[in-house]
Amino acid sequence: MELKDKTIIIFGASSGIGEALARSLSKDNRVGTFSRRPFNSPNQNSLHVQGDVTKPEDIKNAMTVFKDKWAAIDGFIYSVGKAQITDFKKFQADDVRKLMDTNFFGFLNCLEAILPDLLTQKTGMIGMVSALMVGRSLPNGAAYFSTKAAQHVFFEGLRMDLQNQGLHFFEIRPGLVDTPMAREVDVKSDKMWSADKAAQHIIQQMKRNETDISFPLDLKLVTQSLNVLPDSAYFKIVKSQMDKNFRNKN
Ligand SMILES: NC(=O)c1ccc[n+]([C@@H]2O[C@H](COP(=O)([O-])OP(=O)(O)OC[C@H]3O[C@@H](n4cnc5c(N)ncnc54)[C@H](OP(=O)(O)O)[C@@H]3O)[C@@H](O)[C@H]2O)c1
Repeated sequence: MELKDKTIIIFGASSGIGEALARSLSKDNRVGTFSRRPFNSPNQNSLHVQGDVTKPEDIKNAMTVFKDKWAAIDGFIYSVGKAQITDFKKFQADDVRKLMDTNFFGFLNCLEAILPDLLTQKTGMIGMVSALMVGRSLPNGAAYFSTKAAQHVFFEGLRMDLQNQGLHFFEIRPGLVDTPMAREVDVKSDKMWSADKAAQHIIQQMKRNETDISFPLDLKLVTQSLNVLPDSAYFKIVKSQMDKNFRNKN
């Protein structure tokens, strides 16, 4: 797809992958940004609306502002997300519900607000950031990886059902990217990319009309092989490897 003179809305643009994407895409496109904190725009091509994706009225308000400014919207990318360490000794279902509200239902709220226009136009793009790991959990990751699995399966169904409607769907599945979220849960790895490197890669793949933007390749291959292991082998490998890359904050 040509990424020039498009109007793209980025949800989750105040930091991390969304911010890097918004900065880069705003060089050649009009970019509407949405998050609770501001987006520091590098140029005149973007417009920020503050809001919370768990509040559908905030999204509807933002879309009114964007459409008043630019008329038609060419699509959106959902880069909103929160991490959460699951500690079953202090388990509260409501913590998981809140995480689902942000990581999963927030996407659905954006979809509800924007999809009708895209279906009418019969052209446009919908991108969503999930994660490389969408089929299995990791230690202390029951809540977070459940939200990623839900995102992935829902998106697959969305693509399947709307494949002949003129829309382009792409799922962005990062491995490890150095962002505030990754720092919050103390991820450390030599496989980690900067947010700018991730954004450049994502944009390059969007231009090639890729539908599965998974990276980096070596972690993608590792994840694919882990997915086919029986549980007993998977549990053993993961338990031993996790101590090298994560510190349990509980
Ligand atoms: N970093 C990694 O290693 C990694 C790996 C795999 C997948 N991912 C996924 O990548 C996506 C982006 O994460 P990131 O690493 O770039 O983290 P990040 O820097 O923490 O960015 C998260 C963004 O989400 C926004 N956000 C959070 N809650 C929101 C809400 N209720 N309403 C509106 N915006 C909200 C934040 O803005 P405000 O706080 O200002 O609202 C921020 O702009 C997430 O889905 C994450 O799961 C990241």
